[in-house]
Amino acid sequence: MVQLVPEERKMLSGSLGEGVALAMETVVKVAEVLGAPKLVKISSAHISGVSYRNLGEEGVEFLEELAAKGARFSVPTTVNPAGFDLEAHSEMGVGEEEYELQMRIVRALVSMGARVTLSCTPYLISPPSFGEHLAWAESNAVLYANSVVGARTNREGGPLSVLEAIVGRAPYVGLHADEGRAPTVVVNASGVKSFVEETGAVSALGYLLGAEVKRGVPLLANAPRNIAHPGNLRLFLAAVGAASSIGMVLIENVSPEFRRVEGLEEIPLEEGELEGVLERWSGEEFDAVVLGCPHLSPGELAELASRMKGRRVKRQVLVFTSRWAASRAADAVAALKGNGVKVYADTCMVVGNLSALGIRRCATDSAKAAYYLSNQGYEVVLAPRDSLLKAVLERS
Ligand code: F3S
Repeated sequence: MVQLVPEERKMLSGSLGEGVALAMETVVKVAEVLGAPKLVKISSAHISGVSYRNLGEEGVEFLEELAAKGARFSVPTTVNPAGFDLEAHSEMGVGEEEYELQMRIVRALVSMGARVTLSCTPYLISPPSFGEHLAWAESNAVLYANSVVGARTNREGGPLSVLEAIVGRAPYVGLHADEGRAPTVVVNASGVKSFVEETGAVSALGYLLGAEVKRGVPLLANAPRNIAHPGNLRLFLAAVGAASSIGMVLIENVSPEFRRVEGLEEIPLEEGELEGVLERWSGEEFDAVVLGCPHLSPGELAELASRMKGRRVKRQVLVFTSRWAASRAADAVAALKGNGVKVYADTCMVVGNLSALGIRRCATDSAKAAYYLSNQGYEVVLAPRDSLLKAVLERS
């Protein structure tokens, strides 16, 4: 039985409107199924699955109906990438019908009060604080919030996060509770540490960890030093999320809640296993390098622009970022574009449609992108960003 406080019972009763009651009813049902004793107040929500390709007509109608019933988000709410760059839809080969469907989603979310960030990096745009409870529904963001910030969120489903944003509550279970955040297994990276430090294969490491552990809260011991670089950390965590249902990794010198616990099972990672991940997505041939899974930060955009300065880009390079980051790194974006790089905001290589841009074979530094793109039928090469840049840049 989920214990509700008077304010929550009021929401359920319908006295705050039909939309709120509908949302509360579902959140309480989910809490019951998960065995949560109560709900917890959240300070923000992040909604995923908002691409027209994900939602389809039915999903759009669900959002429009909620909005029409007067439902409004009661906490700051951000939104994951859409199916295309809202300012470059024709260039991306998006038809009028698809454009309109996506815009109906955007309008419904705006009318309910969302900040339509269209990015999977809400932790950069409106960073949460240690100990805050959130309802976030994008795995890389969830992993970042829990592992790096020490905020608390489960890996919520897209539709549930909409309802949680309305009622400002989430079921108090899993990573919201202290006991759900205790390490469940030790992953010893000493066998791959020097390999990752030499090759930069942090994303493959994340994928391997996720594939080996699958669930729970792994504690990463003997982590490679380069994992702590912000861009690497995000690539690593995104890959963990793609290969597993893990929502938090405790990383030494990174995670505020890192603590050693005696008596846990220990899983050693071997170099051969990591090479296996890299071999899965190996090759030389590709139509384009795609970067930005997760969305590149302003700092990464600036770093990329400076790497390309005075160089000729001899292959197609596509960069995905948030509109927020692009506006903060406007000079870098202009320089990248001047170098022939395509910079897209609001969308990404996975939720967008690369084939409409004539791309069938892509090279990426993100194991998360590699995983999803190969599932979509693309030929994919996974390699560290540094190697990809070396392959596409030459002196001008
Ligand atoms: Fe973000 Fe798209 Fe990757 S949502 S984490 S860039 S798959």
